[in-house]
Amino acid sequence: MGQIICVMNQKGGVGKTTTTINLAACLARGGFQSLIVYLDPQCNATSGLDRKPVTQHPFVSQLPLKEFIISTDWSKLFLLPGAKSFGDVSALNNGAPDQLERIQEVFRSGLNSFDFVLIDSPPAVSSLTKTALLCANQVLMPIQCEFFAMEGISKMAQLLPGDMWLSTGILLTMVDFTLELSNEVENEVREYFGDLVFKTRIPRDVAVSEASSFGKPVIEYAPRSRGARAYMELCMEVLDNEQE
Ligand SMILES: Nc1ncnc2c1ncn2[C@@H]1O[C@H](COP(=O)(O)OP(=O)(O)OP(=O)(O)O)[C@@H](O)[C@H]1O
Ligand SMILES: [Mg+2]
Repeated sequence: MGQIICVMNQKGGVGKTTTTINLAACLARGGFQSLIVYLDPQCNATSGLDRKPVTQHPFVSQLPLKEFIISTDWSKLFLLPGAKSFGDVSALNNGAPDQLERIQEVFRSGLNSFDFVLIDSPPAVSSLTKTALLCANQVLMPIQCEFFAMEGISKMAQLLPGDMWLSTGILLTMVDFTLELSNEVENEVREYFGDLVFKTRIPRDVAVSEASSFGKPVIEYAPRSRGARAYMELCMEVLDNEQE
């Protein structure tokens, strides 16, 4: 059984989807079978890799999950596409016990051929997010270096089961090294959360946002960019943490 990493923060626009795609792409480049699972009806991760959403969410369908997994243009990087169907998603959100059980079952049995499964979750605390958490064995929480960053984390803190904090990594994203504010936020977050904060910081880099508009991970779109280097560094850190 591989690692299941739930990328979450209930705050919107902090880099969850971007981090899911780019970390998964770096892990795949490193030779690990990697799967992106999409739990957000916005379907950004699906389109961020130039793939179309499906009509019925794979978790709702009765077909085996494996039938939904699609390859990407990159070796070892796979995608479980999201669906835009509102009915599907709200069915999942209703948290009907059989749906939730199916999702958990799917994670336990259906995805064990992957070394890493990264779940991109929506900016909301729903039963869907909670289920994703139950399935995951790690949480990666991107936070944007700006005012109120801490506020988002403390809300998430209420959601995470106590022992989940031990396997949580907080990632500073969209860091602008020229801004005093970025430093202040970083200091505050590190002071409070200590070793839970990844050493790697993801800089604000236009190559990162351009890459997703071209349906590519940044390591493919602009391999020498600061953003690409930062995501490679994050990948190494995730792998290092694994070995500890
Ligand atoms: N390091 C970065 N440098 C520049 N732009 C970035 C960076 N990371 C993310 N972005 C841009 O910021 C926006 C928000 O990022 P993203 O969609 O990953 O956030 P999200 O947390 O998934 O949002 P939502 O909560 O809506 O799902 C996107 O337009 C993305 O391209
Ligand atoms: Mg997103």
